[in-house]
Amino acid sequence: MNTIRDLDLKGKRVLVRVDFNVPMDANKNISDDIRIRMALPTINYILDQGAKLILCSHMGRPKGQRVMDLSLAPAASHLAALLKRKVLLAQDCVGEESEALVAGMQPGDVVMLENLRFHKEETANDAAFAEQIARMADVYVNDAFAVSHRAHASVVGVPAYVAEKAAGNLLQTEMDFFHKAMDAPVRPLVALVGGAKVSSKLGALKNMLDKVDAIIIGGAMANTFLKSQGVDMGASKVEEDLLDSAREFVKEAEQKGVQLYLPVDFVVADRFAADAVVKNVTFRDVPAGWMALDIGPASTSYFQEAMADARTIVWNGPMGAFEMDAFARGTMAMCQVVASSHALSIIGGGDSNAAVKKSGEAANISYMSTGGGAFLTLMEGKTLPGVEILKK
Ligand code: 3PG
Repeated sequence: MNTIRDLDLKGKRVLVRVDFNVPMDANKNISDDIRIRMALPTINYILDQGAKLILCSHMGRPKGQRVMDLSLAPAASHLAALLKRKVLLAQDCVGEESEALVAGMQPGDVVMLENLRFHKEETANDAAFAEQIARMADVYVNDAFAVSHRAHASVVGVPAYVAEKAAGNLLQTEMDFFHKAMDAPVRPLVALVGGAKVSSKLGALKNMLDKVDAIIIGGAMANTFLKSQGVDMGASKVEEDLLDSAREFVKEAEQKGVQLYLPVDFVVADRFAADAVVKNVTFRDVPAGWMALDIGPASTSYFQEAMADARTIVWNGPMGAFEMDAFARGTMAMCQVVASSHALSIIGGGDSNAAVKKSGEAANISYMSTGGGAFLTLMEGKTLPGVEILKK
């Protein structure tokens, strides 16, 4: 796979697929610009080479409609401020006006195309749409790791029509870190997995059984595993239809010699609310009608011990409903544990990243992935279409 450093970019029209799908607050301000900042090394490198830089991205899921709340205008002005240069926003990502804007570009100019998903052809990977975008470029660069699991036009369609293609710095870095952690890890390799649903993580969990030395499971998904072992979880969220799969997983972990750690105590609440009545109980004492919403202090120590000797840690998914302070302690404690570990620590997924940010420990994590779905796809042992196309 070529990287941008393998190509001669001088004077060329370089189209970079970025993922500027960034969260916005109620006032339309970008509340987390990490995805934009992580693309800067690629952007600056291309500009330093004397190329014409064309950026394209999606924002949200407008389903083929021009939803102006999902315009890339805030991202364009934020990028302009970071780069301290003009970023022109084309009103559309295809069409005569955009093509004319690109045709008038000089080396060093930056044009951002408007939200790709304003056209339904983007998610449908429509060939004619891809060709329309491609005709504005001499070189295609994918620096959008977070959307590389989607076989969309700008991810897999466009590169097929552009003569030269390469991975950007962010895509390369993400793939390198993931490879270091999961394919060639310094052992022991410990996976910390949380979040609400077993259903969304079962593929990743199963794949990891062949790779990791230990798996720690927290978050609401742990409820299903405990219930599969005969534990009464009261009114906690449980995926009843996955009890058999959870049971099989526990058995398989044992057969493969993978240490499995489940919570031994919980913070339980009488309802799912920030001001609910809460108490700490062991996993055997979840009262009828109460629900587990965070791991308790004994689980925190237990999980800390499980990670004590780890040389590599991969983390995806929070330990509880950390968006409410009453149920954030377990997740915050895991942030401290992972941050203070000497292991190579890799974290992926929007919720885990938000938790680490909230804990103030982001600087002490080896690598925080910009991907959610893309990171999980890799954890499932699958390839990313956006990466595969660059190898062709
Ligand atoms: C993400 O936020 O995970 C990426 O931008 C992909 O977005 P999508 O799930 O809407 O495809």
